[in-house]
Order: sequence, then C-alpha cells, then structure tokens
Amino acid sequence: MLKEVIATRYIAPLREGGSLPGLVEADDLGTYVMKFTGAGQGRKTLVAEVVCGGLARRLGLRVPGLVTIALDPVLGLGEPDQEVQELLKSSGGLNLGMDFLSRALGFDSLAFGVSREEAGRVVWFDALVNNVDRSWRNPNLLVRQGELWLIDHGATMIWHHNWPGAQASAAKPYDASDHALAPFGPDVAGAAAELAPRVTEELLAEVTAEIPDEWLTDEPGFESPDELRRAYAEPLLARAAVIHERIKGAQ
Ligand SMILES: Nc1ncnc2c1ncn2[C@@H]1O[C@H](COP(=O)(O)OP(=O)(O)O)[C@@H](O)[C@H]1O
Ligand SMILES: [Mg+2]
Repeated sequence: MLKEVIATRYIAPLREGGSLPGLVEADDLGTYVMKFTGAGQGRKTLVAEVVCGGLARRLGLRVPGLVTIALDPVLGLGEPDQEVQELLKSSGGLNLGMDFLSRALGFDSLAFGVSREEAGRVVWFDALVNNVDRSWRNPNLLVRQGELWLIDHGATMIWHHNWPGAQASAAKPYDASDHALAPFGPDVAGAAAELAPRVTEELLAEVTAEIPDEWLTDEPGFESPDELRRAYAEPLLARAAVIHERIKGAQ
C-alpha cells in the first residue's frame, strides 16, 4: 500500500502541461505534487502514474516517491481561481501525490548530457509502458544535482482506455523518433538485457497491488479490482519480452 496523507493546504497550481496538478501541503508536513481524480481523464491517469511510477522505481529508474492524498473538497472554497476551485470540488476522496523535487530544473538536452546506457533504460521503459509523453517538445524529465528524474506517466498504457482491444494494442511497436533522449544514442538492447528479466509476474503483482481499490471499481467487464489489476499486468509482461525489437527511430 502507498502511504496515505491528508491534504491540509493548497499552495499553487503547476501550470505546465494540461492537467493542472497542484502543489499541496499534507498532514505529515510534506509538500506534494498532487494529481486530481477530478482532472481530465480522471482516475485512469492516476492508475497509470501508480503502475509506471512503481515499476520504474523497482527497475532502478529515478522517479518521485508516491503517496495517496485524501482531499476534503472544502479546501477549494477559498480558491480565487475558478478552474482550481472546480478541480478541488470535484476531487473529493483519494488523489495521487508525488514527492515534490525542490530546485529541480526542466531537462534541456543542450545543457545536460545523458549516457547511452541511461538513455537506453529510459527509452526501453517508455516503450514498455507505451509512454507517448516524453518527446523533445515536452520531455517530462527533471534534473536535480546532476541527476535525471522521470515524471508524468499519465499518458501511458493506451490500452487501458479500451480493454477489449488491449492485446492487439499492446502488440504494437513503439515509435521513439521524437523521444527526448533519442539524440543520445540510447542502448536499448543493453537496457532490455538488463531490465526485461526483472519484469516478472511477481513484480507486476507487487506493483499493481499498490493501486487503490477505489480507482479500480466499476470498470465495465471486470468483476473485481484484482481482476483489473491482472489486466494491467498482462500486457506489460508480454511486452517486456519483445518490445526492444519493436522500437522504431531510436538507434
Ligand atoms: N515531483 C515533481 N517535483 C517538482 N516539479 C514537478 C514534479 N512533478 C511535476 N512537476 C512540475 O509540474 C509540471 C507539470 O507536471 P506533470 O506531471 O508534467 O503534469 P502535466 O504535464 O499533466 O500537467 C512539470 O512539467 C514540472 O515542471
Ligand atoms: Mg507533463
């Protein structure tokens, strides 16, 4: 289970991408980047963050730690910004939080070098989860004290938007030609040799167990949250074995 905290103060919106995550303070005095159940694609985005964040961390990639944040919509009442107020009001219950990386800078490929090995691990991982949101236009990478951090895994696993077609969708190749780290000559084969054997059924069960039940209920075609957890694990297990041969544009 992810640690659960309670939001005590809304600090500010982070207006970079489209989903309007917010900076909040919680009852453990931590500062978190909060992603709201009431935003855009709602809870599926949050599920994607939990699955990808948990998997990346277990594979040794740098990702911010995750928590769930309970939100009382009353917190939105004092917000002057209408859009923020609506978001808070529609996000009662459990939301996702990630450790705020203070003093991190946005990744700039001209200012920061990445080794072939590290680029390979990131590209291979993004191919595995089918991340379409790490292009040079919008890298969703942060740099802090000379280290690269991966953020924003909401736009991954496109197959979870259409479960009946999931198998076919997950068999598709990954186009890395626009990937933010494509210019660094990613060693995808090396990354696959190192990481693919670690993506086991057990590991995926551990990762998907961290998805809160309340984001998995009422999914058409599924009887229980655990059945849906297995549906998340399956395409990832299948892709781990083959995806390095189906990455286009990175070598
Ligand atoms: N854990 C974090 N620590 C510091 N800054 C963050 C963190 N997560 C996100 N940000 C900042 O907020 C911006 C938006 O967050 P992101 O997760 O990319 O959401 P979206 O693109 O959907 O709005 C990022 O580009 C980054 O500048
Ligand atoms: Mg983003």
